[in-house]
Amino acid sequence: MALFPIFYLTIFVLATTYISIQAPISFAADLPLHSSILILLVSGITIVACELWKPTYANEQQSSYVAIPMHEIDEDGEERGERNVGERSGSASASYENQHLSVAMTRGLLFVLLGTVVFRVEVGRRVLNGMHCAGRSYEVFVPVALALLDFLLVRKHERLDVNTEDSGSKVIDFARSTQHSKYRFIISSFVLSLCGHLLSIPDSLRSSYICSPVDSAYRGTPFFQVLMAMLEAIIFGMVSLFLDPGPRGLPLAGGKGPLYIGGIMIASALVLLPIAGISLFFVGSTVGLYVWSIVKLSLAACVFVGTGLRVVHHRRTMTAYVIVTFTNLYTSNFIITWNNRQPYPDLPNNYWLFLMTVVILAFGAYLNGQHATVSNGKSVQNNSRLSPCWTPVLILLLLVARCVPWYLKEAATTTHPIEILVQAAETEHKQYVKAAMMGTQTLSEVAKEYHRRYGRPPPPGFDVWHEYAKNRSTLIYHDYDNIYNDLLPYWALSPGELRDRVWEAISQPDLYVGGISVRNGKAEIAGQPKPTHRWNLDGIIKMMEPFVQYLPDMDLAFNLNDEPRVVVPYDSLQAMKQKYTDSLPQMKTWDPKDQKAFSPHFSPERAKTWRPANEKSTRPSRFHGGGFHQSFYDWGSVGCRPDSRARNERHWNPQIHCTDCAAPHRLGAWIKDWALAGDICHQPDLANLHGFFLSPAALDASHDLIPVFSQSKPYGFQDIRYPSPWNYVDKAKYGPDDKHPDVNWDEKEKTLFWRGQTSEGVSRKGEWKGMARQRLVSLTTNTTNSQLVLSSSSPSTYHYTSLSPSTLHALVSPSVRFTPNIVRCDNSDCPNQEKHFGYGNRVDFQDHWRYAFLYDTDGAGFSGRFIPFLRSKSLPFKSALFREWWDGRLTAWMHFVPIDLRMTELWATVAYFAGVGEDGKKAGRVEQGKIIAERGREWVNKVIRKEDMEVYFFRLLLEWGRLTDDARDTLGLVV
Ligand SMILES: *[C@@H]1O[C@H](CO)[C@@H](O)[C@H](O)[C@H]1NC(C)=O
Ligand SMILES: *[C@@H]1O[C@H](CO)[C@@H](O)[C@H](O)[C@H]1NC(C)=O
Ligand SMILES: *[C@@H]1O[C@H](CO)[C@@H](O)[C@H](O)[C@H]1NC(C)=O
Repeated sequence: MALFPIFYLTIFVLATTYISIQAPISFAADLPLHSSILILLVSGITIVACELWKPTYANEQQSSYVAIPMHEIDEDGEERGERNVGERSGSASASYENQHLSVAMTRGLLFVLLGTVVFRVEVGRRVLNGMHCAGRSYEVFVPVALALLDFLLVRKHERLDVNTEDSGSKVIDFARSTQHSKYRFIISSFVLSLCGHLLSIPDSLRSSYICSPVDSAYRGTPFFQVLMAMLEAIIFGMVSLFLDPGPRGLPLAGGKGPLYIGGIMIASALVLLPIAGISLFFVGSTVGLYVWSIVKLSLAACVFVGTGLRVVHHRRTMTAYVIVTFTNLYTSNFIITWNNRQPYPDLPNNYWLFLMTVVILAFGAYLNGQHATVSNGKSVQNNSRLSPCWTPVLILLLLVARCVPWYLKEAATTTHPIEILVQAAETEHKQYVKAAMMGTQTLSEVAKEYHRRYGRPPPPGFDVWHEYAKNRSTLIYHDYDNIYNDLLPYWALSPGELRDRVWEAISQPDLYVGGISVRNGKAEIAGQPKPTHRWNLDGIIKMMEPFVQYLPDMDLAFNLNDEPRVVVPYDSLQAMKQKYTDSLPQMKTWDPKDQKAFSPHFSPERAKTWRPANEKSTRPSRFHGGGFHQSFYDWGSVGCRPDSRARNERHWNPQIHCTDCAAPHRLGAWIKDWALAGDICHQPDLANLHGFFLSPAALDASHDLIPVFSQSKPYGFQDIRYPSPWNYVDKAKYGPDDKHPDVNWDEKEKTLFWRGQTSEGVSRKGEWKGMARQRLVSLTTNTTNSQLVLSSSSPSTYHYTSLSPSTLHALVSPSVRFTPNIVRCDNSDCPNQEKHFGYGNRVDFQDHWRYAFLYDTDGAGFSGRFIPFLRSKSLPFKSALFREWWDGRLTAWMHFVPIDLRMTELWATVAYFAGVGEDGKKAGRVEQGKIIAERGREWVNKVIRKEDMEVYFFRLLLEWGRLTDDARDTLGLVV
């Protein structure tokens, strides 16, 4: 019998821990009202069921009820004498029945409770909506309020049978007197709460998500947080009135308390239901995730309230609340410290350990006081308490466990991560060059390497391509893995099906897919594309012109939007990729004797196989508008493995910088793996951090595989990338002139420069606060949080230290502004952005070259400025979700400086290259920037010239020719 409370207590603590780990990543937060209703309902039903069905519980209640000895109080509240009235067993309880609350009083209280719960849910929803502006937690103070209530109702009248014998030791005497003080709960819970309140997230763990003074949440959220804490105190104060023994050791609600509480929970769920409305169940493809999350949370809530009721029964409401508060504080603080053991990010490690030690000790003191309550008085020998000797052991264990992450936390690093990364990039680039350009690069060498890489012979026309590439002085003959990877799934569709899908897409102008037909060595626009997008198709035709005579007849579908179009869910895609492998010819080694098995010519009469584009399709469109809405789950993470984090976690608190979401691709604060950084599957927090995922302007995409050529795409999309006509026809051109010279590095202003529009996505409901461009501007010009930089105290020790915004601006003042105005917004989001950012003057594109560090970031799609930036003598910084055709040719840290989409390392990077904060090394670092800028310039002029775009495109179109040829499995050039 005595084991039961410990059993319940353990389950209760486990349920609390589970909830405190799951809640921050739960999809339940997407529909806060509905989630609250469900959880209230389930919890209420659990409580009622537990109460109605408790045959064994009745006996247990008899034997284990905890007595609280106290003074007896007469009607005037005067103390009359001591008498122990704690026993509730037997006839004693009958004579105290008159102490129950009156019926009217009970009803009144229940009504107030109902109202408060409903109000609390609404306030909680508001806090959730404004989470990005949340301040420190005030809910941690609820135990203090409960302790005060407890003092007024019970403790004030309590007189413990203190063992007055002098123990001879002052320490023990002191411990005893504190244990028996009437104020013990108030003091211990106050200390616990205060330290918990001080354990807020430091600036180093804050994301760059914007909390703007122009936002109503700026003042609103902290206010609602306080209000929420007050409501919570009122609710649990009332719960305590109903459940806990009153001044005379009897529950005021006369044993019906739990039923009342359960009833109120069910009733408040019912009151909230019409407010929430069932019809609002919209959440799109996340419905499944939402339901699964809410089921998990509801189950946890069942266990939580079921065991919580037991804990309250044995230990009072206040104690249950203290246990929950403590468990939350301990778990979250432990996990944060554990996850951030690396030098980055900087944490207040010692301060936190100190606060947590105090929290743990205060918790110990609380338990100790609790023990005094139950170990004095008559029922002591039968009381089923946590064995007293456990308390110090538990406290010690908790302390030791907390010290582990504290001890493991590294404070300093011996090498600057950027130095390691730059060196690693040099090696990586050398390997790339070796692999991409190996051998003599004769036709047969290149064809052989093609077969080695892709398992089949190169397409017909490859010999002409090879000659063309040679004529264009191409350096890269081997590395066309991007083409291979982009086309891979399309092998799952038959040539006829592919041609049909092209026709379907280009024959409907409303789809914003432009068609180009190649017939008899000439390319022309097919169908009637929108006039505004014509330049794009004209640019493509221009790019094809030098080699179009060598292409077989074919039709092509080009995406005219900036946003990508095709994302196939992970499982279907895997099956499709498998088909490529299955379709490979049985040609293990490269042997020119196989020549007879393959034809080096495309099928004749190809033109007839394509349906004319001006023959309009009447089929329903396979593209669905996902624009203006969150797109991360419908159009982003569907491309990820079902067990990946992106598909299972919802990081609904955008204020937190999810360091473990970025850890796989980072070294310290910096990106170490540019390719992996583009993989969204381990980065669920990106849902809040990019315009494309928050609210794209024109997302009209398909879950079917439709062969659409796009200029860029994020991870998981199956668009076929081709070199951007924007770059080919120089829409943004590197063209310094006398008025705007590209001065030498030393004469450049050593600051960060960016100008652009708010075109990343459409902001209608405050989405702008998460978009990368907006965060960039806010972070560099309006930041109010301190930012980490890595500085060295001695030559081989580097520490991350926080610098205040004013210090940072005194060191470097970036010139980063929106220009010429704020676009793509609605409602109050336009004036709010104007107020928050203001805007700068329009600048000539050629003005860029005055500045040493040029920032480049996505717009609605990729950024067309990056290649001109690379051509200049300035150093480009790049953060991007979108990947282009040249991905892999350039090496991050070798040719440009990569910046994570979270941008938390931006200031540290600028400080590093601007040579700030590290005297003596200043010149060296500035030199390093120059070297990267020079290498980028040199390399881009070798491998990302217009000629290279043609060569890439030529090869891509030959592949496309084979893919759409009815005889594709026997086509190939074996030389
Ligand atoms: C308390 O436990 C003792 C044995 O440990 C038992 O004899 C006694 O009856 C119990 N008292 C009550 C009130 O259950
Ligand atoms: C390569 O250049 C030579 C000489 O200018 C020319 O005759 C040949 O047609 C070119 N080949 C291709 C594929 O453009
Ligand atoms: C942000 O900075 C810009 C430029 O200094 C200024 O015009 C704007 O008022 C600032 N916004 C806020 C909210 O401080």
